[in-house]
Order: sequence, then C-alpha cells, then structure tokens
Amino acid sequence: MYIAFEGVDTVGKSTQIESLAKLFPDALVTKEPGGTELGKKIRTILLEEGNLLPRSEILLFLADRSEHTERVVRPNLNRLILSDRSFISGIAYAHVHDDIEIDTLLQLNRFATADLFPEHIVLFHIDEKSLRERMGRKSSDAIETRGIEYMIQVQKIMEELVDLLNIDHIKIDASEPAESITEKLYSYIKDCQA
Ligand code: TMP
Repeated sequence: MYIAFEGVDTVGKSTQIESLAKLFPDALVTKEPGGTELGKKIRTILLEEGNLLPRSEILLFLADRSEHTERVVRPNLNRLILSDRSFISGIAYAHVHDDIEIDTLLQLNRFATADLFPEHIVLFHIDEKSLRERMGRKSSDAIETRGIEYMIQVQKIMEELVDLLNIDHIKIDASEPAESITEKLYSYIKDCQA
C-alpha cells in the first residue's frame, strides 16, 4: 500500500513518517526527491545548486519521480510504503512557479510514473503565521527561498488537487501536537489496511 505524505515545507511530514516507521516496523520509508541513487544527485542539483530554468527543474523532478516509482515503489507495492512527497508536490510547486496548466502537469506525471500514483495521501495544512515562524527558524533551500506567499499558494493547489483527483486522503492540521497527529495517522493507516 502506497501512502504519500504531502504539504509545504516545515509542516512536520518527516517527523510523522519517523514516528510511524517505529509503529509499522515493516514499512518502507522513502522520499522524493532523493529516494534512489540517481535521485540523490538530482536532489543536490535541484535544492543545493538551484538556478535552473523552470521547465528544466520540472523535468528533473520528473526524472527523480520516474526512477523512484519504478525502482522503489512498484517493486514494493505489497508492503506499506510511506513516502515523503509524490506527484502532488510535483504538480503544485510547478504550477505555482511556472503557471503550467494542471492538466499538462498531470499528463507529464502520468508519463513519469507510468500511471502509478499513491493510493492514499496524508495532507498537512499550516496557517500562514505558523509557516512564517517555522520558516524563520531554518535555512532555506533553492525552492524555499521563493517565500511564504509562494508556499501558501502551493498549499492551496495541493488541497484542490487531492479533491479534484478523488484520491483517498486525510487532512492534518500541522498545529496539533505531534503525538496526537501520530495517533490519528496510526488509526488512519490501520483503517486503510483493513
Ligand atoms: P524536502 O525533501 O526537504 O521536502 O525538499 C524538497 C523541496 O522540493 C521542497 O521545497 C518541495 C520541492 N519539490 C518541488 O518543487 N517539486 C517536486 O516535484 C517535489 C517532489 C518537491
């Protein structure tokens, strides 16, 4: 079962994945970008070097996604897969950055994944004030430097996408205590597995 964790930076996706991995010791924990050997190199180019043309950036994220889907996700669909990000980030960040139509981005993502999308999405929501505070406390990568307005728009598109695509999902308020989020997600995953 393939579950993707989505939301803008600092919402607590990795913390939750780490806690859930302890509760589901057989789970495969992975991420985009950077879940494969090539993906790690692509991640460095995208986030540390930066300064790419918007379409080159999209194509590199898609190359990462293709490697990740075929080499990590597809061979392990019989296991619980907890992935930090997926095509939802792929579409939302690209749509807001370069104004490319959602339909076009969807087709590109279908091509990259050969139609394999997550079965369930955990979608985090953060209010603007908390996002500002959390972003102020950390250094930004090449994409985060686009600022708070950008990330708030990305979040809105993510929310629209999960509804539009009709993918089973749970929405999480990032301001809740981490332990109660973990409890909620534990029950959600158990229900998905039932
Ligand atoms: P993270 O792994 O620390 O979340 O960083 C990944 C960054 O890349 C984050 O700012 C979101 C961004 N991103 C895209 O712009 N497009 C994508 O397709 C993906 C997967 C991530």
